[in-house]
Amino acid sequence: MTDVAHDLVIVANRLPVDRVIESDGTTTWRRSPGGLVSAIDPVMRAHDGVWIGWPGGTDQDLQPFEDDGLQLVPLSMTPEEIEEHYEGFSNGTLWPLYHDLVAKPEFHREWWDTYVKVNRRFAEKAAELAAKGATVWVHDYQLQLVPQFLRELRPDLRIGFYLHIPFPPGELFQQLPWRRQILEGLLGADLVGFQLPGAAQNFVRLVRQRVGHKTHRDLVYLPDGRTVRAAPFPISIDAAGFEDLARSDAVTKRAEAIREALGNPRKIFLGIDRLDYTKGIYARLRAFGELLRDGHLGVDDAVFVQVAVPSRERVEQYRLLRDEIDRLVGRLNGDLGRIGRPAISYLHTSYPREEMASLYRAADIMVVTPYRDGMNLVAKEYVACRIEDDGALVLSEFAGAADELRQAWLVNPYDMNGMKAALLEAYQAEPRELTKRMKAMRKQISQHDVKAWADSFMTELADDAHHSHSKTVRPATRS
Ligand code: F6P
Repeated sequence: MTDVAHDLVIVANRLPVDRVIESDGTTTWRRSPGGLVSAIDPVMRAHDGVWIGWPGGTDQDLQPFEDDGLQLVPLSMTPEEIEEHYEGFSNGTLWPLYHDLVAKPEFHREWWDTYVKVNRRFAEKAAELAAKGATVWVHDYQLQLVPQFLRELRPDLRIGFYLHIPFPPGELFQQLPWRRQILEGLLGADLVGFQLPGAAQNFVRLVRQRVGHKTHRDLVYLPDGRTVRAAPFPISIDAAGFEDLARSDAVTKRAEAIREALGNPRKIFLGIDRLDYTKGIYARLRAFGELLRDGHLGVDDAVFVQVAVPSRERVEQYRLLRDEIDRLVGRLNGDLGRIGRPAISYLHTSYPREEMASLYRAADIMVVTPYRDGMNLVAKEYVACRIEDDGALVLSEFAGAADELRQAWLVNPYDMNGMKAALLEAYQAEPRELTKRMKAMRKQISQHDVKAWADSFMTELADDAHHSHSKTVRPATRS
């Protein structure tokens, strides 16, 4: 397959599947966690592209292969690269820095060197696979230098970059010792996409201040005559796909079985997150625990189902978080539960889409309370699955999704009392109120699905190429 040149190349840190070695020594492929994978999957299918990414693990020299109709090109990483590029610079430096310093970012020069090396390898692979004039779409914070390296190798390509996580304000970003290199890396793209308008503005302002390029609104003018556009493209989900799944007999039955297994409580609260310190899992469980302790809720009336998907388990901060959540769940169940009636039903695992849809259908109140989140697709998936226009969404103001899902119960996850009040209100809301809110949110999600997201990015990227050719004749009205 590598001999063929491709018109669309997707470059992401991860492939959509992870290579796992079973206990009997055989290897299988398992779907990777996270929103990025579920968002790009349909784009790949629609455009018949090829996807370059790390297959997880340390296997070297894996050959390109096809999985479930997708053409995948594994790019291997050595144990040292995993430690320094993925766990280190990507998830120990950039992740906390881009998420409001929810944890303290670490700055290590060796991590940076390996990040540069791995980004260069991704760029070389993309340069090798792309046809003349092809479109290459690079994804996320692990690969911010790829656009620049790729442009140096292949100036003929149209290069798009999309950041799935927040882009921080200058006050935070300027802590990064390699701030200028990251900005210049991104400027290798023709179009740089963000979740929200504020993130795109942060980027343009930083480019003006730190790199010194001229800018006007969402455009950056480079000395070599190129123009780069920075714009918001709020990501979404396969809304119709989730809705169909939610309507299926299998999911309807499974949702009933889940309620039954939980002892048919009056209301089920649900949280589904990667086990990440940005997600506010601890705070939401504490808020729920206090509502039980204060007597506002009882374990016969309500249960909280929390699914925590294992993630980045070798990174220290994630290990600590897991211990904290384990302890909290143990304490809440020990103090507040009764035989057959735990306060929290806690599951440290990942589930296939069908089980997720069943949980969404079973749950009365979906609780999504990140301290900072680029978008949060779980919130959107819940809405898509509420085919009877009922159910409540409690959503953090600091999730990108809050810009669109205005009818949710919006909360500040740092405000414990505010969060308790919102959980209780959502619990007590009248059916009419729920329907009114859910209908509006469902309309938003069905009109702005992942296909619309991908189409608008790809169209803009194509237009942008035209735009770049005519950039030298633009008026000098730059700010
Ligand atoms: O959307 C953010 C993101 O970091 C993606 O880049 C990634 O695929 C997903 O979350 C899951 O994280 P990881 O690849 O570290 O398991």
